Amino acid sequence: MTAEMQAPETTYPTTHQGIIDFVTEVAALTQPDRIHWCTGSDEEWTELTDALVATGTFTRLNPAIKPNSFYAASDPIDVARVEDRTYICSVNERDAGPTNNWMAPDEMKKKMRGLYAGSMRGRTMYVIPFVMGHVEAERPMFGIELTDSAYVTASMRVMARMGTAVLDRMTELDAEFVPCIHSVGHPLEPGQADVAWPCNDTKYIVQFPEERAIWSYGSGYGGNALLGKKCYALRIASVMARDEGWLAEHMLILKLTSPAGTVKYIAAAFPSACGKTNLAMLQPTIPGWKVETLGDDIAWMRVGEDGRLWAVNPEYGFFGVAPGTNEHTNPNAMKTINKGNSVFTNVALTDDGDIWWEGLENPPASATSWKGEPWGPQSEELSSHPNSRYCTPIKQCDILAAEYDDPRGVPIDAILFGGRRKTTVPLVFEARDWTHGTFLGATLSSETTAAAVGAVGVVRRDPMAMLPFIGYNAGDYFGHWINVGKDNDAAKLPKIFYVNWFRRDDEGGFLWPGFGENSRVLKWVVERIDGQAAAVETPIGHVPTPESLDTEGLDLTPEALAAALAVDADEWRAELPQIQEWFEKFGDDLPGVLWTELDGLRARLGG
Ligand code: GDP
Ligand code: PGA
Ligand code: MN
Repeated sequence: MTAEMQAPETTYPTTHQGIIDFVTEVAALTQPDRIHWCTGSDEEWTELTDALVATGTFTRLNPAIKPNSFYAASDPIDVARVEDRTYICSVNERDAGPTNNWMAPDEMKKKMRGLYAGSMRGRTMYVIPFVMGHVEAERPMFGIELTDSAYVTASMRVMARMGTAVLDRMTELDAEFVPCIHSVGHPLEPGQADVAWPCNDTKYIVQFPEERAIWSYGSGYGGNALLGKKCYALRIASVMARDEGWLAEHMLILKLTSPAGTVKYIAAAFPSACGKTNLAMLQPTIPGWKVETLGDDIAWMRVGEDGRLWAVNPEYGFFGVAPGTNEHTNPNAMKTINKGNSVFTNVALTDDGDIWWEGLENPPASATSWKGEPWGPQSEELSSHPNSRYCTPIKQCDILAAEYDDPRGVPIDAILFGGRRKTTVPLVFEARDWTHGTFLGATLSSETTAAAVGAVGVVRRDPMAMLPFIGYNAGDYFGHWINVGKDNDAAKLPKIFYVNWFRRDDEGGFLWPGFGENSRVLKWVVERIDGQAAAVETPIGHVPTPESLDTEGLDLTPEALAAALAVDADEWRAELPQIQEWFEKFGDDLPGVLWTELDGLRARLGG
C-alpha cells in the first residue's frame, strides 16, 4: 500500500484490533468515499432502502399490498451463481481438486488486489458484523463483510443475524472471524452517474480455505455476494467441519409431527432450485400430519454427546426461487412474503406496485418484466428470470419451529438426498446403511437449473448437492462422510433416503404431483425408521411397496404410481459407466468403500 492510499476517516465502534486492521486495510485498498458501520437498526434499514430507492436500485412496492418491501432488477449479466468464476484457493492444488477451480492463493490475491484497487471509489463501504448461527452458540461463527453494495447490505440484514449486538459480542470475546470482502467492481468517478445495478463483466468468487477468508468481486447476486451464505456457511464451513469432525451441508431442516404426536426431524439435500425451500415449508395433504420449518438451505450438523446428529440452520432468512411459488405449491412461503419486509429480485413489477412471476395466481393484465420491458399474458418472453428470488425474514414464517431459536439445534432422524431426474430414479428409496447412503449422496445426479449460469437441464453428478460448495478435495469430503458413520454408533445416526419428485411420464408430465403431496413420502420415511412400513429390496435399495405409501385421497392412477416407484434395471445399468467415470475423476482420493459399493450395485444389477 502506498502513502497516498489513505482510508477515509471513520470512528471505530469497536476496540477489536483485528476488525480495525481489516477495515483499515481494505478501505485503503478500495478507496471508498465513506465507511458505514452497520447497526442492524430499523432506522438504518429505512435509510438504506430510501437510498436504494433514490438510486433506482429499489422500487418501493405498494405498502397496502407488500409493506416495507422492494423490487429490484439486476443487470441481465448478473442473475445467478457463477460456478466457472468460483475458486477454492488452497495452498496445494490437490486440496481443491478435482471438482473446484483453483489458483495459487498468492497469484489470486495479486490479481484481485489489482481489481480491488480503487474499486469502491465514489461509494460507501458498509461494514457488516454478522454471525452465522446463534450469537449464544458454544462457539459463535462470526464474520465481517465489507461491501460497497447497499443492496447486499439490505439483503444481509434479512439473511443473517448482524449489527451492533454481534459486533459488541465479537469485541467482548476478541473473537476470531471470517473476513469477507465484496465489491461490485463499479467505482464512480467524480460526477459519474450510478446505474441501478452496478456490477462488472469480470467476476471472481474466491475462498481461501486455510486462511478462512472470502474475496468476491464483480457480482451483486445473492450466492455470489451475500458472503455469509454459500461462501461462508458452506465452502469455508465445510473446511472447518472437516478439521473439527462435523458436517456443513446444503440441506433444509424440517420437523414432522404425526397424528399421534410423534416428532421426527428430517434434513434434505437437493441441488439449487430442486425443491429445498418448498419441502422445508410443506403443507401436508394427509390429515393430522404437521410440518414445521427450521431451515431451507443450510444445515450445520454435529454428533452430540448422546450420539445423535444435531443440526442448526445458520441463516436468518429465506432466499427462495420465486417462479412456481404460489398459494397451492407453497402457501407458507406466500404468507411469509405477504407480511412484507422483503426484497424481490428479477421478478415482474405490476402496475399497482405488486410483484408477479410465472406460476403465481392471477396474472396481471400488464406489468413490467424483469428486463424493464412492458409485459402481458400474451408476451412470449418470461416476465421473471427463472432464478428470480424473494428474500424474506425467517421469523415471519408462521410454521417456524420453536427449536429454531435453540443453539443446540435438533437431532436428525433422516437425511434425504434428491435431485431432478426425468428418468431412472424412483420417487423414494432407502439406503441399506450409512456407507450405502454415502454412496447414494456421492453419486447424486441432477439436471442443472437456472440457479447457476450455464446450460439448464443437463444431467450432472452433484454429490450431496454440494458440487459447487465443497471447500476442499471432494474425495476427502466423501471420506469425511464415511468416517462420521465409522466413528459413531450407526444405530443413532439418521437413516438415509433418496427421493426424486421430478420423474416424467411419456408425455413429459410429472409422474408425481409433488409439493404438499410429498408429505406421503415423508410419512413412509418415518414409518420406515420406526420399522412399520413395508418395502421391496431392489438392487438400488429399499423401495416402497405401492400399498405401503399412503395414497388415500390422492388423484393418481395405480399405473402412474407404479411408474413413479419403478426400478428399471436397464436404466440403472446405463448409470454404471457414468458412476464409474465420475469416481475415476478422484483417483486414489476416492475412499475404497465407494468402489466396493459400486461393485455391489453392479453385481446386484447382474452386470
Ligand atoms: P431450492 O433452490 O432447492 O430451495 O428449490 P425450491 O424449493 O425453491 O424449488 C425450485 C423450483 O422447483 C421451484 O420452481 C418449485 O416450484 C419447484 N419444485 C419444488 N418442489 C417441487 C415438487 O415437489 N414438484 C415439482 N414438480 N416441482 C417442485
Ligand atoms: P438455492 O441457492 O437455489 O440452493 O436456494 C441460492 C443461490 O443460488 O445461491
Ligand atoms: Mn432455496
